[in-house]
Amino acid sequence: MREMHIRGLTKADYDYIISVLDQWWGGPAGRRADPMFFYEFGEHALVAEQDGQVIGFLLGVMVPAPSATGYVHLVGIHPDHRRRGVGKRLYEQFTERCRAAGMKQIKSLASSGHEGPIRFHESMGFTSTEVPDYAGPGRSRVVFVKEL
Ligand SMILES: CC(C)(COP(=O)(O)OP(=O)(O)OC[C@H]1O[C@@H](n2cnc3c(N)ncnc32)[C@H](O)[C@@H]1OP(=O)(O)O)[C@@H](O)C(=O)NCCC(=O)NCCS
Repeated sequence: MREMHIRGLTKADYDYIISVLDQWWGGPAGRRADPMFFYEFGEHALVAEQDGQVIGFLLGVMVPAPSATGYVHLVGIHPDHRRRGVGKRLYEQFTERCRAAGMKQIKSLASSGHEGPIRFHESMGFTSTEVPDYAGPGRSRVVFVKEL
């Protein structure tokens, strides 16, 4: 396998992610990558690069104590590069940074009924719980948590 490199997010990466997000996600997802995930929280964001191409990204935040939570807001892998460990590498790197910053847990969400994200998180040791009304009335979410 060709070498993959995980590094921080630049504005050029952010612009690229915005341009491909709907395609990578298979639907309108552009609003999810709010600019604050670059301008305010960009220091926590990561991209995976191979042969000079961005093939995956992770947008996250670290919430200080008492929450002490590393929160993964959005992760996406280029459709041609899935199931090659790219998502896992991004999570591992983010987790390492969270641990070093004193975070006590990692958290993420998915919409209900999507097996891929559930299997992905469970494969990395997250517990998953479906919570009714999590995102408001009638809007359940699967909540993933992993203690560090
Ligand atoms: C979900 C997603 C981030 C996974 O990234 P990825 O790089 O393909 O995942 P990895 O290769 O690191 O997978 C690690 C393990 O997770 C599990 N897994 C990942 N995707 C899976 C899927 N679609 N179905 C079942 N298990 C899956 C497997 O156990 C896999 O290990 P294996 O390939 O050796 O069996 C990626 O498919 C994606 O971007 N999907 C579209 C956007 C999305 O759903 N984002 C997540 C919202 S929470």
